[in-house]
Amino acid sequence: MLSAKSLFQEILDHDESFRLFCSIAAGGEAQGGWENGRIATLVPSAERALAPKIARHGADEDKHGRVFRALLKKRGLIPAAVPPETDYTMLLERRGIGLAHARLRRDEPLGERDIIVYLSHSRVTEQRASEQMRFLLRHFADHPEVGRAVRLIAVDEDNHLAYTHEELLRFAAAGHGRLIQRTLRECALAEIRVHRDVSLAVMAHMGRILGWPRTKCVLLAAGIRAVYVYERLAGWRRMVSLSLPARRDPLGGPATPAHEFA
Ligand SMILES: [Fe+2]
Ligand SMILES: [Fe+2]
Repeated sequence: MLSAKSLFQEILDHDESFRLFCSIAAGGEAQGGWENGRIATLVPSAERALAPKIARHGADEDKHGRVFRALLKKRGLIPAAVPPETDYTMLLERRGIGLAHARLRRDEPLGERDIIVYLSHSRVTEQRASEQMRFLLRHFADHPEVGRAVRLIAVDEDNHLAYTHEELLRFAAAGHGRLIQRTLRECALAEIRVHRDVSLAVMAHMGRILGWPRTKCVLLAAGIRAVYVYERLAGWRRMVSLSLPARRDPLGGPATPAHEFA
């Protein structure tokens, strides 16, 4: 049967598809870690209180990168090159979503606006991360090889999402509501397109590795496009709403270690 669960199971079961999956995931996490690390360093003095939370966000993403690399190592695999068309983080950056890497490389403090752009970008991408991890948690939480990693990362991504809600609401209360809504909308509409394109590219690579028949590839591509149509019509709105999280200050305190992986 063609279900998301069975597809992912197939990807897990084959060394080469597992290698590509973990390599893409590790690459995205590491880029997120680097971005957050730079943003934490460049936080404007008026927002100094945010710096440790952004640093923690970055440390978490770096940790996720290490977790995916550890999964590869456990199976005796080395990371594969990430095909550019599957590089979600880089494609978003190229579309001008979030803060440009060239800007982050400059040793010049960010402004308040930059922090709002960073938080809005994170609000949207962490929603995606949290939903993807929830899917894995539902079906693979007890998987002997990846279960522990899935459980650990899922908790972190939920915390990241909650943190962006909380901080954006604080900026909205300080009078930045319009800028936040505009930025969130722009990020969400770009993200759903990049997500579609990356999903199509990843599926094409997996199809080649796993020798999927043409009908299966056509069906999968149609499914990915149908999700995009739904997201463009209505689904994108779930990425731009803001509500106070049940657990306040979710990124307060140090990152939880991942000794068993790193
Ligand atoms: Fe992550
Ligand atoms: Fe995250």
